[in-house]
Amino acid sequence: MIIMVPAVLILWGASAILQADLLPDEKFVLLPPVNFTIKVTGLAQVLLRWELNPDQKPRSVNPEYHVKINAPQEDDYETRNTESKCVTILHEGFSASVQTILLKDNSLLASSWVSAELKAPPDHLGAPGTSIVNLTCTTNTAADNYVHLRSYQVSLRCTWRVGKDAPEDTQYFLYYRYGSSTEECQEYSKDTLKRNIACWFPRTSIPGKGRDWLAVHVNGSSKLTAIKPFDQLFALHAIDQVNPPLNVTAEIEGTRLTIQWEKPVSAFPMHCFDYEVKIYNIRRGYFQTEKTTINEFVSVIDDISKYCIQVRAAVSSVCRASGLWSQWSRPLYVGNDEQKPLTGWFLIVLMAAVCFLLLMASLLCRICHLWTKLFPPVPAPKNNIKDLFVNTYYEKAGSSETEIEVVSYVEEPVFETLEDSVF
Ligand SMILES: *[C@@H]1O[C@H](CO)[C@@H](O)[C@H](O)[C@H]1NC(C)=O
Ligand SMILES: *[C@@H]1O[C@H](CO)[C@@H](O)[C@H](O)[C@H]1NC(C)=O
Ligand SMILES: *[C@@H]1O[C@H](CO)[C@@H](O)[C@H](O)[C@H]1NC(C)=O
Ligand SMILES: *[C@@H]1O[C@H](CO)[C@@H](O)[C@H](O)[C@H]1NC(C)=O
Repeated sequence: MIIMVPAVLILWGASAILQADLLPDEKFVLLPPVNFTIKVTGLAQVLLRWELNPDQKPRSVNPEYHVKINAPQEDDYETRNTESKCVTILHEGFSASVQTILLKDNSLLASSWVSAELKAPPDHLGAPGTSIVNLTCTTNTAADNYVHLRSYQVSLRCTWRVGKDAPEDTQYFLYYRYGSSTEECQEYSKDTLKRNIACWFPRTSIPGKGRDWLAVHVNGSSKLTAIKPFDQLFALHAIDQVNPPLNVTAEIEGTRLTIQWEKPVSAFPMHCFDYEVKIYNIRRGYFQTEKTTINEFVSVIDDISKYCIQVRAAVSSVCRASGLWSQWSRPLYVGNDEQKPLTGWFLIVLMAAVCFLLLMASLLCRICHLWTKLFPPVPAPKNNIKDLFVNTYYEKAGSSETEIEVVSYVEEPVFETLEDSVF
């Protein structure tokens, strides 16, 4: 049985190629669908529709359809329905093909293709360089306290830059579509020429856990020229600005640093978040960043220091395609910066310095004193100056003997005291 499977697969593959390309002369022929139409049903959204060929025999066949999108972006999928919604940018038009397929007797039969095309709509024409550029949008979730039940409200903010060739009187208008609802912006921000350059929707129809594409359309008007509209699709997970975690607390007990927080304001439940904890050791000046999926992180610290703690969140891939990290929570400080040991050392050093200075001062005093005693204005050995000194000297009557006596007396004991105090 197990060995049979690849054989069947090969057979199926081979006959599929045979059926599609060579159409072997069999009584059963699969006919292409009829009345294939493409209709614009909203911003950046089209509906493809077709019918089973009325000449298909026998009528009891229940075929599938293979849809191929040719433009603007190639895509291809299979469906049992006779209609299909497609979300895509329609600037450059849209074209698609469809064929009937049927798995019969382990072989895949396929009809020929039918195609349809949507020309670029006339309002998508406009002067080049007049459409907006660099459109960015972000969503954010807020708790809605209006209702008793816990509910969430998603806001949307978009910004853009004016086209480089847009006339000064250009005015832009922004619309978004999510699901079946389309809304026009009511709160614009303007540049110095009063042209709209950003938009804010405090409330939108986007659900807090939305997964569909967000379509944004910005068109414009000017008296001087036609303004080229601009469409862009956004994946919600990629533009959702998650809120930071709430109520971050940190506590040090011995060598355990315990950090706890609550999940951010979000429609996603608790198990849907990844967290990143940043611990900054202020004394050593280094960061430690850790990842976790629970609402607590315990770190063993061997360092008495002050720490700065921040936590951020992201919706994990368990619940949605991975997106952006939130902002960091506000910094939280714990621990102390080793005040006591520092002051202790400082005092010791200070006292040592003071002792040393005192010692030096006393030493200097003694040396100064000794200096004056050792070199009294006595025997200057040079001619003119010597005479001068001698003259002055002799004016101080009888002091020379006493001076000399003092010197000889002082000499010995000074060196003794010096030796005592230094060593
Ligand atoms: C296809 O369209 C034509 C004309 O619009 C209509 O008469 C016919 O009934 C449609 N065929 C099917 C199978 O719906
Ligand atoms: C706007 O987008 C263009 C191309 O996409 C890029 O080169 C340019 O740096 C962007 N300008 C700003 C201000 O982001
Ligand atoms: C802009 O687009 C909206 C929605 O498609 C449309 O209703 C409106 O008439 C357009 N405005 C201009 C000036 O093209
Ligand atoms: C955060 O803490 C405050 C005070 O402790 C509390 O009132 C509040 O409910 C907490 N927030 C959440 C989301 O639990």
